[in-house]
Amino acid sequence: MSVQIDHLLNETRHFPPTPEFAAQSVATPELYTDAAADRLGFWANQARELLHWHKPFTKTLDWTNPPFAKWFEDGELNVAYNCLDRHVLAGNGDRVALYWEGEPGETRAITYAELTAEVKRAANVLTKLGVTAGDRVAVYLPMIPEAIVAMLAIARVGAVHSVIFGGFSPESISARIDDADAVLVITADGGYRKGKVSALKPAVDEALSSGESYVRNVLVVKRTGQDVDWNERDLWWHEELASVDAEHEAQPFAAENPLFILYTSGTTGKPKGILHTTGGYLTQAAFTHKNVFDLRPETDVYWCTADIGWITGHSYVTYGPLANGATQVLYEGTPDTPHPGRWWELIEKYKVTILYTAPTAIRTFMKLGRQIPQKFDLSSLRVLGSVGEPINPEAWMWYREVIGGNKAPVVDTWWQTETGGIMISALPGLTTTKPGAAQVPIPGVSIDVLDDDGKHVGHGNGGLLVVTEPWPGMLRGIWGDPERFKETYWDKFGNKALYFAGDGARLDEEGDIWLLGRVDDVMNVSGHRLSTAEIESSLVAHPMTAEAAVVGASDEVTGQAVVAFVIIKFSHLDDTSHADIAATLRAHVAQQIGAIARPKHIFIVKELPKTRSGKIMRRLLRDVAEGREIGDVTTLADTMVMQSISNTMK
Ligand code: WTA
Repeated sequence: MSVQIDHLLNETRHFPPTPEFAAQSVATPELYTDAAADRLGFWANQARELLHWHKPFTKTLDWTNPPFAKWFEDGELNVAYNCLDRHVLAGNGDRVALYWEGEPGETRAITYAELTAEVKRAANVLTKLGVTAGDRVAVYLPMIPEAIVAMLAIARVGAVHSVIFGGFSPESISARIDDADAVLVITADGGYRKGKVSALKPAVDEALSSGESYVRNVLVVKRTGQDVDWNERDLWWHEELASVDAEHEAQPFAAENPLFILYTSGTTGKPKGILHTTGGYLTQAAFTHKNVFDLRPETDVYWCTADIGWITGHSYVTYGPLANGATQVLYEGTPDTPHPGRWWELIEKYKVTILYTAPTAIRTFMKLGRQIPQKFDLSSLRVLGSVGEPINPEAWMWYREVIGGNKAPVVDTWWQTETGGIMISALPGLTTTKPGAAQVPIPGVSIDVLDDDGKHVGHGNGGLLVVTEPWPGMLRGIWGDPERFKETYWDKFGNKALYFAGDGARLDEEGDIWLLGRVDDVMNVSGHRLSTAEIESSLVAHPMTAEAAVVGASDEVTGQAVVAFVIIKFSHLDDTSHADIAATLRAHVAQQIGAIARPKHIFIVKELPKTRSGKIMRRLLRDVAEGREIGDVTTLADTMVMQSISNTMK
């Protein structure tokens, strides 16, 4: 981390908006002044301007019982109506909502009118299957239009979706279904990834095999057409949609009605079900999508490359863009299929104007070389966004120069599953950008950097990133666990109204914010959050393993990589080679959690470095994994352990 900080300290380049861009900026400086003058009034105005309220709210925020917030509490709205019907009623039904491209190359252009019609039918199917307001529905789908239709249909009937990333294993699926007591699962036969069919329904079947869940039906989208086992509870999506009425009137729901649960890794082994509600969440998603990306819905073609299984896909594929009536690209597959220029080809083909992606993707393309994007016409791009992990200045500059033709501003956006929407970002027509910095809180959001005692660190110093005032898109809790919600985010400084994000940050001399990565045991691999504890418990669940410690080690492309140190039970060491053991354990983790959690390296060691109180010192293991000289070992119970580990690795 210190090398990275030195690097950032030396970064002094500045890129002001061009006069042409600034002159036409969607965001105006008044956003900042209005929000500073009256933060709650500002959000109330945004909520009224950006959304349709079936019943207008009169109260903006109830913060009398922190950390439990209520925004726009007495207002009523329907999220799907806001994302669909109202655009059609305003005469924009013919505007393309989705340019979908399957990995094998099929395409669909779906207008707002068509999307609305499909969501209405899907909503009727949900009602037919007995799904009512407040019920939880799990969604396990590839990046196909039906994924968005499913989310919006669930929202339309006031139910709660729990989208599970298509790469998760049956065990992870069943843990999520059980935690939320889901009554229905929406999946597909399969999806296309890297030129192959990846099966999805079999994973759901396995997840439900114990027969102990509340799931009554599994609704299956036919995507790939491969054979699937069929159970009594299974129904084909297309048959059900054809069997119901085409009309469906969206009913209003209270602004604090739950919208979704999304599971994310924390510092313990059990993923947390982050709960979001409707009115505040949609306000922030729409506001940030409009102002951070300088959106002009009539002319822009927007593309966010995130999967809907992550929060970025929720807020900036489904809700923000559709609430704003934007036209967007939705791509099913991987960036390098069937050729390494696929993304750039799509940008050329659809004349994409706004691209939102992750540093890990940018670094992968950097490694492949600029000659690949340079084969395509990327001149339509006018705003570039980054999200998911700190972006190093080199990647930021490459993104700006090679992809943005040295003219498109890059906005680095910091936020989390928990924050619901973007919290820190430049606004491209207003802010002079700095390579590698997220820079400034968005209007209406209050951020500070504090030391361990809760004191402001002052310019030029690093500390812990904190949100100091409630914000509309904030998580409303952890599903079923209010105590964990309080402990995890609101207990750090003894002030129940300060939100601790788990990230380190530095304020530069001008007061701009630079993100420095997680300060807890959460890793960030290719922009995906993984918990050291979760992978450790998976490793020790294998019969060969006696003990395991996992660290996130710096990685040039993925930001961090999962590295595990494992003690193997004596009886297994005789007849199996270390390489075979490591391969077995890597496969085991992939099978238990999902391929994204598979350790890059597994080192078989005899001991692990522990303090006298028995806590594993991951800091030292990180030193080893990153090839650094090993730091201070004086608090170790046995100071020779590190010597023995280093020897193992030679
Ligand atoms: C990290 C993704 C630096 C951070 C939207 C945060 C970032 C975690 C940035 C949340 C950024 C996200 N710069 N770090 N621009 N954006 N992060 O919940 O550590 O998947 O706490 O949400 O990603 O990850 P999550």
